[in-house]
Parts: sequence; C-alpha cells; structure tokens
Amino acid sequence: MAGRDDTPQGINTKLAHAGNDPRDFFGFVNPPVVHASTVLFPDAATMAERNQKYTYGTRGTPTTDALTSAIDALEGSAGTIVVPSGLAAVTVPLLAFLSSGDHLLITDSVYHPTRNFADTMLERLGVEVEYYDPLVGAGIGRLMKPNTKVVFTESPGSNTFEMQDIPAIAQAAKASGAVVMMDNTWATPLYFRPLDHGVDISIHAATKYPAGHSDVLIGTVSANQAHWETLCETFNTLGCCSGPDDVYQTLRGLRTMGVRLQRHQESALTLARWLEEQPGVARVLHPALPSHPGHAIWKRDFSGSSGIFSIVLVGGGVRQAHAFLDALKIFGLGYSWGGFESLAVPVRLTDRTMATGQYDGPVLRLQIGLEDVDDLKADLECALAAAAVA
Ligand SMILES: Cc1ncc(COP(=O)(O)O)c(C=O)c1O
Repeated sequence: MAGRDDTPQGINTKLAHAGNDPRDFFGFVNPPVVHASTVLFPDAATMAERNQKYTYGTRGTPTTDALTSAIDALEGSAGTIVVPSGLAAVTVPLLAFLSSGDHLLITDSVYHPTRNFADTMLERLGVEVEYYDPLVGAGIGRLMKPNTKVVFTESPGSNTFEMQDIPAIAQAAKASGAVVMMDNTWATPLYFRPLDHGVDISIHAATKYPAGHSDVLIGTVSANQAHWETLCETFNTLGCCSGPDDVYQTLRGLRTMGVRLQRHQESALTLARWLEEQPGVARVLHPALPSHPGHAIWKRDFSGSSGIFSIVLVGGGVRQAHAFLDALKIFGLGYSWGGFESLAVPVRLTDRTMATGQYDGPVLRLQIGLEDVDDLKADLECALAAAAVA
C-alpha cells in the first residue's frame, strides 16, 4: 500500500487504513456491518447477467470486502476468503485442491485438528495422507510422488515450535507441481509473508491475533494469482461464509494488531529469556531465542515473533504439570491464543509420528497476553515453585 503520493507506508499505517475507503460510506471511518442474504437487481437484464458488484450475501458484502482487501494488502495476495473458523481456513483450501487418488504431504508438527481432518475426512475421500519431518527442508523433494498435489506446512510447528525451511520446501514442492500451503497463524502477515517465500496459499486462524479479543472465531485464506480462482470457486461451492458481525470485529481487531503484537512479542521474549534461567525449566521452545534449534531460520525469514511458546519442565510428569497449572492465578487454563489474556495448556504429543522430540519433562504451552510482565513473572514463579515440590 502506498500513500497519496505513492510513498510506501509503514505497517501500522497500513493496518490503520487498509480495506475500506471512508468516502465510500458517507465518511464514516468504519465500514457498515451489512447483514445480507438478498441483494436486489434493478432489472431483469442485470439479474440475468449478474452484472453488478454484489449479487447475494454468501458471495461478499461491503463488510467482507473491507476485511479481505485489508488482508490482501498485508499478505500481498490476489484474493482472500473469510471463513467461520481457523479450522475452516485449513479444510477449505485442502478440499479445493485435493481429489481422490491424490497424495498429501503434511508436516508432523501440524495443529492437531488439521491432522484429524486429513486422517478422517480426506482419507475417506480417497486422499493418500503422509506426514513428514518438519525439519525436512529441501529433502521434501525425495518424498514427492507423481500424484503429490499438496504440501502442507506450518511454521513454527504447533506447541513444539519447530521452524520449517519454507523457501526450500516451496521450491522443491513446486518443482514437482504441488500446491504449497502454510498455516501462518503464529507469525501473522506482519512477521512473515508466505507468498513472498514461494507459498501459494496462506492460512490464518484470524481468531487469534487479528480478532485478538477471545470473542470471535474466524479464518482467512489468501491465494496467489495462480490459485485464487480455484480457491474462490470452492468457497462459493461450499457456502461457508462468515457472519458480518464477526467479520467487522476482525477488521476492528486488525487496526490495533501491530501495537498488540509488539507488546505480545516483548513480554513473551522477556519471560522466555527469564524462564531459560530458572532451575525448574529444562528448555524453552521459542524460535526467537538463540538456543532454539530453528533460530537461524527464524532470523533469516521472519521479522518478529509473537506471544506463544512452550517450556519443558525438568523431569516429572502429570503430577508436576498439574501442580504448575493449578498454581497459576493470572494465566487461565484454556485453549486458543492471540487474545489479550495469558493462558497455559499442557501439551500432548501422542499424535506425532516423528516430531516427538526428546523432552525430559512435561511440555507446557504459554500464551503471553497484554498484562504487566512483572505480574506474569510472579505468577510463573509460583507455578514453578509448586511444580518443584509436587
Ligand atoms: C495453528 C492453528 N491453526 C488453526 C487453528 C484453528 O483456529 P480456530 O480455533 O479458529 O478454529 C488454531 C487454533 O488453535 C491454531 O493454533
């Protein structure tokens, strides 16, 4: 996005203004929340040709257009669809590009419900599903088969934060003609733009940082020019559009995402560095720490880090993990992340086939919210003390 005189603008300026033009709606700075099914046509000829911008509520409204244009500006994509959850943002593109008899390669450290969708519905539809080591890099080329249609990536990996060499994977996969997809929820387009690194389809659980307030479920899928038509066609075929209030809330969240992410990043790094020094902590799994095995890739490709990472306790098992979690007073015990509040969850790795890691103790995932970092530190200190005596 450029300013009026075509000067390039900073990311927070983009976030504040991308999407809608206030002059299109009487100067109000926010777009209207259009609740719509029916759209009227002025005459039969226009109706026959569907020759007007909006034709039916499932196919876009001024509200959805405002959000999708803003996401396109951030992702550098040709088009974006908005779906009712982050999980739908995973399943819709997989359905768009896979058919019976195709082979799908998925990173083994993928978000668990993505794995569940592949293992159940895609298998039932006749797709051959294979998991690969997230650290495979250009070695993905050796796993490609003549029928490999999609290579699915997620970096860093869910819960254990393995960094994938996305440019190398994309190059090798595309040399064999596969479509490359990435779940980029962790970084948001502010800290990594998948399409600039050879990915065809960028997926976001916009439930997390874009919406940002733990009150909206929503997903976005952005495609490059070559893949936009197929993605859009499937979206229209499935009819899985989002409600206007959720779409509006997500654009509202996007306006402040830059400043929120900056705070999530700083607090998470402060706590991650501090946790590395604590005697009860064996490892901190955060790609922006030099101790992380994927740090070099993170530094090469990403321009920032968000607010979620994991810690590994020194020894122990379920009892120590529960003692840690039960001692927390500010961190809530709950799923999801990217909201204003801190959360903790125990990590289960029983679904993994190769990215199992060798963790000495329980793995706990921390979502660092917008609270004062000293308060969060004190909360974690109590939790570590409780785990130590459990
Ligand atoms: C990496 C990742 N992708 C997708 C999703 C799914 O998002 P939603 O909860 O909106 O379905 C999540 C949710 O935790 C996630 O962590």
